[in-house]
Amino acid sequence: MTFIIAIDGPAAAGKGTLARRLATHLNLAYLDTGLIYRAVGMKAKREGLDPVKAAQMLTPDDLKAPDLRTEEGGQAASKVASIPDVRAQLLEFQRKFASHPPSPAKGAVLDGRDIGTVVCPEANVKIFVTASSEARAERRHKELLERGESSIYARVLEEMRERDERDSSRSVAPLVPAPDAVVLDTTKLDADAAFRAALDTISERTRG
Ligand code: CDP
Repeated sequence: MTFIIAIDGPAAAGKGTLARRLATHLNLAYLDTGLIYRAVGMKAKREGLDPVKAAQMLTPDDLKAPDLRTEEGGQAASKVASIPDVRAQLLEFQRKFASHPPSPAKGAVLDGRDIGTVVCPEANVKIFVTASSEARAERRHKELLERGESSIYARVLEEMRERDERDSSRSVAPLVPAPDAVVLDTTKLDADAAFRAALDTISERTRG
């Protein structure tokens, strides 16, 4: 049995930063499942492929495409992510990563939307990271500007709400906290405080 931590939540809630830090701190492997959906969405768009085909043909190189972290990448991801056959196609890889993480890791941290509910319902710890949509849009806006991309706050907020709505209302694996997830609201927490709160949750959940 590997040790699995599931981190889920809406866009720009701080899942990635938190998951990466937890993985480093606990010597666990890390999988950013959103990046896989982004890669499928952008591959389908770029190569004019049916999204299911794009998921079937996905290569490690596709995960290195430079445009994946853009808002266009996020929108493309959320569109293909609502297609049941795309999700089914990607499920096995994610589960295998969790159950057989790359050596020497004895477990894995996965972040996404449905890790605690669908991909790894048996995860040892589930954290649902959230924040107000304004706080999340503010963070994403700053992130885009820091990367040298042009960004307008109002537009980021609108696109984020649109994506959250699509992610939450889809019929397969919608964005909802697992019943046994601990909700971590980071609206008023910086990355350090969120990390400490998550570590507390992990020790509480794994004690006895
Ligand atoms: O970084 P951010 O939270 O903005 O997005 P992401 O985690 O990279 O995910 C991009 C999109 O992929 C999401 O809006 C979801 O539609 C989709 N996704 C999903 O459906 N299931 C996952 N496990 C991960 C991402």
